[in-house]
Amino acid sequence: MTIHFIGAGPGAADLLTLRGRDIIASCPVCLYAGSLVPEAILEHCPEGATIINTASLDLDAIVAHMQAAHAAGQDVARLHSGDLSVWSAMGEQMRRLRALDIPVSVTPGVPSFAAAAAALGTELTLPGLAQSVVLTRTPGRASSMPKGETLTSFAATGATLAIHLSVQNIASVTADLTPAYGADCPVAVVYRASWPDQQIIRGTLADIGGRLGADITRTALILVGPALAGEGFDESCLYSVNYDRRYRPQTTDSPWAGWSEGDD
Ligand SMILES: C[S@@+](CC[C@H](N)C(=O)[O-])C[C@H]1O[C@@H](n2cnc3c(N)ncnc32)[C@H](O)[C@@H]1O
Repeated sequence: MTIHFIGAGPGAADLLTLRGRDIIASCPVCLYAGSLVPEAILEHCPEGATIINTASLDLDAIVAHMQAAHAAGQDVARLHSGDLSVWSAMGEQMRRLRALDIPVSVTPGVPSFAAAAAALGTELTLPGLAQSVVLTRTPGRASSMPKGETLTSFAATGATLAIHLSVQNIASVTADLTPAYGADCPVAVVYRASWPDQQIIRGTLADIGGRLGADITRTALILVGPALAGEGFDESCLYSVNYDRRYRPQTTDSPWAGWSEGDD
């Protein structure tokens, strides 16, 4: 049988892929990370499914549930918030499952940084301002950062930063970033993007700390960089009227003239 890891999205129950929904509906066992996965998604579980909130379990106990389901010939839907490629703890579960020879599959989900950008109505890579997005965090009680992955080193790039798991450290975040980005650099904090109680707080590196309500201590993303201003950027060449490209050759002697998709 298979343990199906599924990205459950950022919060809104309808920000789940159709594939994820269908796999959940086919699995008699569902393990979900209850701190962030919305309960509404569990409505896709089949009637009579065994549904376990893993928020209070350790890794041994979680893997024991998976092993038991496997031994009983039952597929498992394993739900984590957002996407599985970042801060999902999927890696350590997979390592155990591979050692046990239990098959796995992975279905991606909508990551919280994308939901936060959508809430802001913002493109994070605006031509001339930023062409890279750094998904990062600050150290936490349970997680140190590898040497070199510091906010100051990322700040030196000028890229858009999407800082996870760090809103409780907003004072040190802004202090670390101000020398490179400047005190007037735009910042947005998106709290519980896509949930009904979503909040958006905009400001600058100088004032964002003072703008956050006392209730915003977790489940928020800090987005920093010039692209957050949403102005002062260039238009892309892609849609420029004069840009010669494969899908829109400008002249008969263009290298793309006469090209059709089958030629590629
Ligand atoms: C354990 S990580 C999970 C990340 C997740 N795998 C993803 O793809 O976004 C939890 C952190 O992600 C961010 N996060 C998760 N859901 C969020 C949401 N709906 N709105 C804002 N930030 C969110 C917060 O920074 C939170 O501290």
